[in-house]
Amino acid sequence: MRAEWTYIKELADELKERGVKEPEVFLVLGSGLGEIVEALEDRLTIDTHDLHGWPFSTVPGHAGALHWGRLGQCRVLMQQGRVHLYEGYEPPLVVRPVRTAIELGAKIVILTNAAGGVRQDLRPGTLLLLRDHLNLTGRNPLVGPNNDSRGPRFPDMSEIYDKALRRLLLDAAAALDLPLAEGVYAGLLGPSYETPAEVRMLGMLGADAVGMSTVLEAIAARHLGAAVAAVSCITNMAAGLPGAVLDHGEVQRMGATAGKNLAELLKWSLSRTHSDKERS
Ligand code: HPA
Repeated sequence: MRAEWTYIKELADELKERGVKEPEVFLVLGSGLGEIVEALEDRLTIDTHDLHGWPFSTVPGHAGALHWGRLGQCRVLMQQGRVHLYEGYEPPLVVRPVRTAIELGAKIVILTNAAGGVRQDLRPGTLLLLRDHLNLTGRNPLVGPNNDSRGPRFPDMSEIYDKALRRLLLDAAAALDLPLAEGVYAGLLGPSYETPAEVRMLGMLGADAVGMSTVLEAIAARHLGAAVAAVSCITNMAAGLPGAVLDHGEVQRMGATAGKNLAELLKWSLSRTHSDKERS
């Protein structure tokens, strides 16, 4: 079996050849959250089906594309169509795209997703900034031999979501007058939605929202020293809560609505990311 890092280096080389040069930010777009792609200047789109070793999504509504360009002065690589454990992919494949982006030079990783609201005040359409997560998938992308040249065997996850990035996103929300809640995301294996008993359990464990992605990518990115932020778009109340509608089509529709606000938030934040760095 070829070593995972061989794939990552080859993918990074191929993307460089196609013109992706030192992204500052890697942005992963969750289900139905593709609105921000339109804002990308000098946009180059790469069909990820053409990239040898790039995992492709099998889920309706998840495209397979990378978008490369600028938001203001900030060089951003966006992934549309992540892959999930529930599709049958092993953890290293789920995190291969984020590792490739960091190999290319990305220092900031922003993960977005669609999630169910566990906390009662998180109504559909709310944006939730992750303060922390519960990895309840039973899997971890760092299992197996560690690449000591890239990150430690036992990485500290006590601040997995970067404080300064969270501050920036909260400032963006305040400046744009967009509501942005904060909370803890529980990442589950899926693909079945939770039972009402499981949602009650998640609430007792301290989860504010639940979804089927993000946690492995956040762990892998943190392991490599990137600053990570994540925003959930609450598309439905989780199972058993008043008003819960669990339907993939509905999840996508709500995602598209809240996706507009998310795009505004990210545009504001990312254009500041570059100028902040220039100043320091
Ligand atoms: N549960 C898990 N994943 C989800 C949900 C949910 O209610 N909504 C969107 N993704």
